[in-house]
Amino acid sequence: MTLRAVVKGVGHYLPERVVPNSEFEARIDTSDEWIRSRTGIERRHIVAEGQTTTDIAARAARAALADAGLTVADIDALIVATSTPDLTFPSVASMVQGELGMEQGFAFDVQAVCAGFIFALTNADGLIRSGQANRVLVIGAETFSRLMDWEDRTTSVLFGDGAGALVLEGAEGERGILASDLHSDGRFRDLLYVDGGTSTGTTGHLKMQGREIFRHAVEKLAATAHTSLEKAGLSADDVDWIVPHQANLRIISATAQRMGLPMEKVVVTVQDHGNTSAASIPLALSVGKERGQIKQGDVVVTEAIGGGLAWGSAVIRW
Ligand code: ACO
Repeated sequence: MTLRAVVKGVGHYLPERVVPNSEFEARIDTSDEWIRSRTGIERRHIVAEGQTTTDIAARAARAALADAGLTVADIDALIVATSTPDLTFPSVASMVQGELGMEQGFAFDVQAVCAGFIFALTNADGLIRSGQANRVLVIGAETFSRLMDWEDRTTSVLFGDGAGALVLEGAEGERGILASDLHSDGRFRDLLYVDGGTSTGTTGHLKMQGREIFRHAVEKLAATAHTSLEKAGLSADDVDWIVPHQANLRIISATAQRMGLPMEKVVVTVQDHGNTSAASIPLALSVGKERGQIKQGDVVVTEAIGGGLAWGSAVIRW
């Protein structure tokens, strides 16, 4: 039998405030019709003033722990995937550890922008299979609203805030993370970046070459999903659900088409959440389970790409 990282629980948190596309129409030169037809986005959630990435991450973590029937005392390691830390340091993971009252184990952040959750999941899988930790809480949490230039119609309409979390536990058997595949290519670092950090002493704003990102996304996402399935000894025919990074409905459907899978097999939440970067996959996994789409035993393929460029995928038998 093989030791695998099995999903024990999943949960999410979305900030209370919902911003429909119509709110942008009043402020900048855009329209609900443009945003819907180019991206599939209808609304997004935005954090309240003073609400932090740590706060929403901790709420998602509590929901995942409740779903797993566990408490924080049962967790050996906590990983947060985020590009929107509240402070330069300590890590959001350390802040969440403190917030949850977790006194044992270890916590750290993973920063791979929109692909962050896949990188965090793969790290957690490695920790479990190497015996470093048996139960790992993996969280994706973002407050991208804090990185927006609200006057820039080419970026501000695309993103939202939110958090999702999985509890993984080492167990022998057929369920769990079957394979993953990670990539990055820093030659493309200028396609998507935030123009702030320690070099400027400011947080900065998100800058993006949308069309170029789109082109890379479709090609690289289908390829990495194919590689992960191959590593798992499976083919597209075995897939029950694709749970893609929720950036743009056109990227999601073009990727599914390249994989030869119908949209009926894709969990789509982008219309309600916008692009929540590293939070989008755990959010979609949680919503997909709540909707009754993802069930125990299903083969789930997750895939994401973002700034770096960094991209990857994972195959999970739920
Ligand atoms: N409202 C109205 N018009 C707009 C808006 C807007 N919000 N934004 C851009 N436009 C205009 C442009 O200014 C341009 O006008 P012009 O022809 O007069 O110059 C026109 O619309 C077409 O712009 P394009 O950039 O060519 O539009 P495109 O069809 O490529 O759609 C989009 C833009 C939606 C950003 C698309 O390229 C895309 O989704 N790219 C992927 C980017 C992405 O998802 N990034 C997220 C981070 S990375 C990731 O998560 C995968």
